[in-house]
This record gives sequence, C-alpha cells and structure tokens, in this order.
Amino acid sequence: MTTTANATSPVGAVRTRVEGRAKVTGAALYAADVPYADLVHGWAVLSTIPHGRVHTVSTAAVESMPGVVGVLHHGNAPRLNPTAGWGAPDGTLQILQDDQVPHAGWPVALVLADTLEQARAGAEALVVAYDEEPFGVTFAHDHPGLRTATESPLAPPLSAEHGDVEQELVTSAVVVDQLYTTPGEHHVAIEPHAATARWADGRLELVDANQGSFLTARILADLFFLDPDSVRVRSEHVGGGFGSKALVRPQAVLAAMAATVFRRTVRVVLSRRQVFTLTGYRSPTAQRIRLGADRDGRLRAIDHQSSSQTSTVLEFVEPAGAMTRVMYGSDALRVKHKVVRLNVPSPRWMRAPGEAPGSFALESAMDELAVACGLDPIELRVRNEPTVAPGSGLPFTSRNLVACFREGAQRFGWATRDPRSGIRRDGRWLMGTGMAAGSYPGDTSFATATATAEPDGGFTVRVAAADIGQGARTALTQIAAQALEVGTDRVRLLIADSDFGPAILAGHSWGTASWGLAVTRAATSLRKTIADLPSIPATGISVKVDTAKEVEAMGHPERHAYAAQFAEVAVDVSTGEVRVRRLLGTFAIGRVVNPLTVSSQLIGGMTWGLSMALHEAGVMDPAFGTQVNADLAGYHIATHADVPPIEVSWVDDEDLHNPTGIKGAGEIGIVGTAAAIANAVWHATGVRHRALPITPDRVLGRGIS
Ligand code: MOS
Repeated sequence: MTTTANATSPVGAVRTRVEGRAKVTGAALYAADVPYADLVHGWAVLSTIPHGRVHTVSTAAVESMPGVVGVLHHGNAPRLNPTAGWGAPDGTLQILQDDQVPHAGWPVALVLADTLEQARAGAEALVVAYDEEPFGVTFAHDHPGLRTATESPLAPPLSAEHGDVEQELVTSAVVVDQLYTTPGEHHVAIEPHAATARWADGRLELVDANQGSFLTARILADLFFLDPDSVRVRSEHVGGGFGSKALVRPQAVLAAMAATVFRRTVRVVLSRRQVFTLTGYRSPTAQRIRLGADRDGRLRAIDHQSSSQTSTVLEFVEPAGAMTRVMYGSDALRVKHKVVRLNVPSPRWMRAPGEAPGSFALESAMDELAVACGLDPIELRVRNEPTVAPGSGLPFTSRNLVACFREGAQRFGWATRDPRSGIRRDGRWLMGTGMAAGSYPGDTSFATATATAEPDGGFTVRVAAADIGQGARTALTQIAAQALEVGTDRVRLLIADSDFGPAILAGHSWGTASWGLAVTRAATSLRKTIADLPSIPATGISVKVDTAKEVEAMGHPERHAYAAQFAEVAVDVSTGEVRVRRLLGTFAIGRVVNPLTVSSQLIGGMTWGLSMALHEAGVMDPAFGTQVNADLAGYHIATHADVPPIEVSWVDDEDLHNPTGIKGAGEIGIVGTAAAIANAVWHATGVRHRALPITPDRVLGRGIS
C-alpha cells in the first residue's frame, strides 16, 4: 500500500472504529433498540396477491384481540402528498392511499398493539379480501413491454452515442455479440429496517434506519405536508444499507402515519421477508454487448444495450451501461437502456447500481474479445485506454486504471499465466484465473458541518453523515483532527441527526468525500478562529460551514474510481461446484483516509461480487406472482466458508478536484469481481458462462469441455 501516514497525520493512519467498543458490547442503540416508555408496536400486513384491489379489510375481529390498539388501512390512513420524493415523486411512499395492489408484498394494513407479539398476531389474523387482476412478473430480454428508458435527474445518463456503431461492426475483423444476464439480487443488510416515530413539542421525531437523516427528514416533511424543520430524524447506528436504506422506506412512513393517527410512540420493524419486497433490490438485467475490433484488438465499436424491470409505482432503471461510458476508447459507442413495468416490487439502488451487473457483461465480453484476438486480457484493455471519457468527451480528473492493472498483475502473478483454457488440474478440480476491470463515480455533494471548540480543550464536530458500517464516523474523526491539527482523541464526532443541517446521504460513494469536505472547511476555519484566543469561553466557539455553493462550483467532471480485479477458481468436474481460491483487487480511489476501514470496504465489495457470481438469485413464481425465495433459507449468499482470503491494495491516485483528494470507496469494490470470476471459470473449463449465478447445476448443465 502506498498510503503515507505518520503520527502527526491522522488522515492516512490505520484507526479502528471509534464506536467499535459500543457496538461489540451492545451499548450502541439501533433504530429498534432505543427505549421509550409509551411504545406501541406496528406490524405491517402485506398483500398476498400480485395485482388487483383491496376489497375489504375486516378490522373488527382484530381490534378486539388482546393488546391491539388499532388497525391502519387505506380507509383510515392520513392522506399523503403524492409528489413527495427525492427529486421526483416516489410512488413507493404512497402507502395505504388507495385500494390498489401493485405487487405482492405491498403494504395493505398496519396492526398496532402493546407488544410486538400482539401486533404480529393481529397482523396474521387480519382478513383482507382482494379483487384479483391479471399480472405479469416474469422478466425476459425480449419482453414485449420493454421500452426505451427515459433519462432521470437522479440516474446517470442512460444513453450515449457517437460514431456509427453498425458501420464499424460491419467493418470489424473481430466481433463479439453476446447476451449476458444477471438475476434479481437483494441487499439483505444484517439490520432489518426499523423506525420509531412520535410527536414531541410540535415536531415529528423519528429514530430510523436509513442512509441519510437530513434528506429522509425533508422527504417525510414533504410527504406529510409539514414544515421542513418540523421533522427530525436520527439514525445514530445503522446495521448495513447498501442502498436498501437510501432515504425513506415504508417502515418510516408507516411509523409516522401511526404516530400521527394514534398520537403514540410507534415502532415498526420489518421482518426479513418484508425487507425483500419493501426496501428495493437489484433488478434482473439482460445485456446485449457487441464489440467490434481490428485484429490487433483496437476497438472500433462498443454497443451496450441493457434491459431491466421496474414496478408499476416507480420507474427505476438499473443503469447497467453507465460504466461503459467511461471505460474504453472506440470509433463508435452506443449505450441504451430499456425497462419494462411488471407487477413486481420496486427495484432500487443496490451497491454499485448499474456498474455491478454492467461490469459483468462488459468485462466478460472484453475477455471474449481478448480470446478471439489472441491477446492477453490486460493487454487488450491497455490498447483501448481512452484519452478522454468516451461517453462525454470530457477529460478525466484522474484515472490510473493502467496503474491498477500493473500493480494487481504483479501482486497476483499474472505474468506467468498460460492463456489456454481447460488444461490445469488439481485432483478433481479444474483450475483457472481471470481478471476484469471496473469503475464507479467519485462524486462530491453538499454537506453542512459545525465544528465547536469546547472549553476543556476538546472539539465537537457535527455533520448529518450516516455510518452504516462503512466507518464514516471514524474517517470523519480523522479528517477533523487533521484540519484542527490535534490528535483524534480530542475530537468527538456526532452524526446522523437531521438537525445538523443539509447533508447528502451515504450513497453513490458520496459520503466521505462530501461530508469530509464540509468537516475540513469547518474545522480549518475554527482552528484559525481560535488561534489567537487566550482561552475558550464556557459556551464554546462554533463555526458552521455549508458546502453547497462550493460543490456547485466544482461542477460535474469525469471523476471516477477504477478497479483491477483478479480471481483464481477451482471447478469440481464431478459436482460442478466453483470454489474461488483467491481474489485480489487493486484500486484507484483517490486519497485513503483510513487504510483499515477502506480495506474492509473493498473486501466487503469483493465478497459481494463473489456472492453475485456464484450464489445470489431472487426467483419469482410465475404462477402466484410472489418471490419464491424471499428469505435467507432460499436466497443464498456467500458465507465465510465460501470466501477465500481477499487481498486489496491501491495505487497513488492524486486527484484534488475535491480538495480533500477523496474519491470514495464504498461501491467500487464489487465492480468487476463477478466478471473476473466468470472469466476464471472459462479459463478453468473452456465454457463461457453468460448467466449469473454460476451454480453447480449450470456448470454441469453447460458441460465441462
Ligand atoms: Mo449505494 S447503492 O448508492 O447506497
């Protein structure tokens, strides 16, 4: 690792999590843990049909059950603002507003009771009658309902085109034209979504599991027709998010509704099954990639056409082609997305939304092209390094992908690789290695930080950041200490309270770069303010900085993190089992604040990539319109036994477009991992797997050459 650190430089130093002890001793309180004296519990009742209307909700019998406080449903729930959402109306927030059932697992009621068990018993006893309507839940690459996706203010550009793709393909000596598919995938954060809501002193207060307390509060205020400042959201500890807790999810809406109607403190915790249908997931994708190249591998054409599904209440497009806009130079480029509305739960952002499935398709196709050209897959990529971002024509603030290849290849021992497939044995295992590249944006967004010098010599820094396990609290402590020119032991970081002022969420790998800039500005300003003071008054001295204007002036350049991923696999010729024996990733991620937490982020992302490659698939039942495996018995994720030691490193990546130099490391870790594994499976077996996950039945079914 090339990070430099010394005793006087908190940024760049290895630091264990500042809240680590609180977490392992159970002192850290999550959204379902915070005690309240007058608490009532809400249990959501979800539709059992995939499409239709609620005919009747028979509340009387449930209302007389022990402990039941009431039943909320579309007949008695408060009306919500239909335009509320982040940047655009969000139909997933319009809960209990009418009798429509858009998909199985949609909330149709909430049973409130004194205890969780009573609420659950009431929910299970509640009889809901439906009028069923025809439904469609089956995604396919040639679904007749697919139509071109419209650009959205919150999504990356969904199309790009330059040059004549068809003409370049016709005149290319080598063409790869393949369809790659990825299934529905679920975040399954350890902590199920939970919210506790109450009215206090004229304000709606929530403790909620989310990835951004400020924006969550603002959206809830809008949803409930309240003044922006009359909603407060706190999220001090959050047990994983990965996009599933990005802003408002149904637990918060249901808890706030019930608190408003019943004037009680209401807690709503989703069950694991409910998390599957109510909090987003990664849409299945079908991606046709066409690459045209000269014999020497120089790309003439790249065509990436991706299809995905969405629900009938929200148009979410999985931007699988986004990465293709910033990877390789070619004479012609086309990126297009299509989407089909089905009676399925609403898909959402999930770790590296777009890039995760997109990199599987693009980087598998690049591997196929390398084989077709007789080129080493790294050499093929190096030959197609662009001078500017292919999608926009704008320069990169920094890139360093080639440096990642060189460093990763050297660490992995790539130079001695025999390119031939299907020839290495280790007992009953066929052995292979593969590599892939990846990219994810390194954008900066707005934040507000307040730095306070306390009379006892300590400093308190407040910023509405979210620590969903990634280590934001620790990294921001280091950033604050650096700017204050004091040790981290003198800094107390308070986060995840919407009252701290505007701040972007923990998503899109924005967090550390965005909050870190605000913390740097506030802490630096405070240090200068107090420099000449003889002492700090008893009330302390505070400096508050909002970076919105500074960030706006920074614009939206092509700023991206890059990855080189390497995998070694063993494939059991008799069972078809794929074991990953080694994973290695080398990254260009700008300045690294904390090598320990960044390593964990990258290893976590690569573990996700392994799980995506080999295990994960949400399966819809075409007969009933429900998900077959909406639980952790049926939805397989990698366990410890599936995951080998994972090596990560990073290259020097000086990029001061954001003055902190931080690009973000939250999502890049997963990008390219699945392709590297799939490419290694080809190298081991000689069989190309273009459908994820690569399960034993598929390996045996496709044969081993
Ligand atoms: Mo990340 S999926 O943008 O929370």
